[in-house]
Amino acid sequence: MNNTLMHCLYVSRALVPADAAEAASIYGSARQRNPQLDVTGYLHREGPYFAQYIEGPGYAIEQLVPLIRDDPRHDRFRILSHGEAETRVFGSWHMAFTDEGMNPYATFAAGSARPTNIAMARAEDLEAFFRASADIIEAENWGGPGPRDEKVMSVRQ
Ligand SMILES: Cc1cc2nc3c(=O)[nH]c(=O)nc-3n(C[C@H](O)[C@H](O)[C@H](O)COP(=O)(O)O)c2cc1C
Repeated sequence: MNNTLMHCLYVSRALVPADAAEAASIYGSARQRNPQLDVTGYLHREGPYFAQYIEGPGYAIEQLVPLIRDDPRHDRFRILSHGEAETRVFGSWHMAFTDEGMNPYATFAAGSARPTNIAMARAEDLEAFFRASADIIEAENWGGPGPRDEKVMSVRQ
């Protein structure tokens, strides 16, 4: 069994509306399965795109990636980076979840050489975005009690 810490970063095109019901349904699966698999990560929705970073033991990532890839709620699933990871980026979140209203990738990329359209982002762009987002969600404690719960649904470990 591969217990080495691995990660996977992908972008896909959403086929479902960006509403609370869809978010809650995806979040429900992540809340159930990710703790069992010792998986942590961050899912971001921006316009019609999803971008997700998942990390955990190799056997868990190998199980979870095909499950997510084959989900009919999205298509054009493109893995941007995949492989061993030195440390967890989202160690205290089984799946943090934001949208462009909370934490826009386009704003992160603006004023830099990075493409501002998330569909054009390279692995290095999204990895930088996810690392910056990890600091923000920790600092702001998104997912904690309060009105943000409706928009940002996160499961702390
Ligand atoms: C963009 C996206 C991200 C997802 N992320 C996760 C995840 O982190 N963990 C998970 O278990 N399922 C995730 N899912 C759901 C899985 O694709 C799949 O539908 C689900 O695990 C099915 O199992 P269930 O019926 O037991 O919930 C995601 C789905 C989508 C569309």
